[in-house]
Amino acid sequence: MTFEELKPKVTEITSNSVISREEKLLKICELLSDSIDYYNWVGFYFANHETKTLHLGPYVGALTDHTVIPFGKGICGQVAVSNSNFVVPDVAAQDNYIACSFTVKSEIVVPLFVNGENIGQIDIDSHVINPFNEDDERFLEFVNSEIAKLY
Ligand code: SME
Repeated sequence: MTFEELKPKVTEITSNSVISREEKLLKICELLSDSIDYYNWVGFYFANHETKTLHLGPYVGALTDHTVIPFGKGICGQVAVSNSNFVVPDVAAQDNYIACSFTVKSEIVVPLFVNGENIGQIDIDSHVINPFNEDDERFLEFVNSEIAKLY
């Protein structure tokens, strides 16, 4: 499925008036992971700005021990500080990286802004090297902007 085809499906989920925000986030994880073959782990982390930690939210994919990540640590922690997208074509080339599984070869993290504040992020791991391009970034920015409307 193309990103353009996926966009209305994302909006369908976010505008569902029956299910909770948590359920919407999980459904978005499922939609993305089911629709894009190189999206092998899809999840959300949310920031606690007082403790400067990220906390795992809804996700699909392999179980992870990394339920709490300090700001600055790993790809996710760096995005909590930089407020910028982080595309990692090859995780083996990263020094500040938290490995979840040896099957993960690449990663993309896109911050989630609500009223200009970085409240969390969508994190996607892939089992292939260098699968992500600017279309992924624009699409995931769209996904997060739709989610931001729920806050
Ligand atoms: N690899 C991430 C940790 C989270 S897992 O991908 C689920 C990182 O370096 O921040």
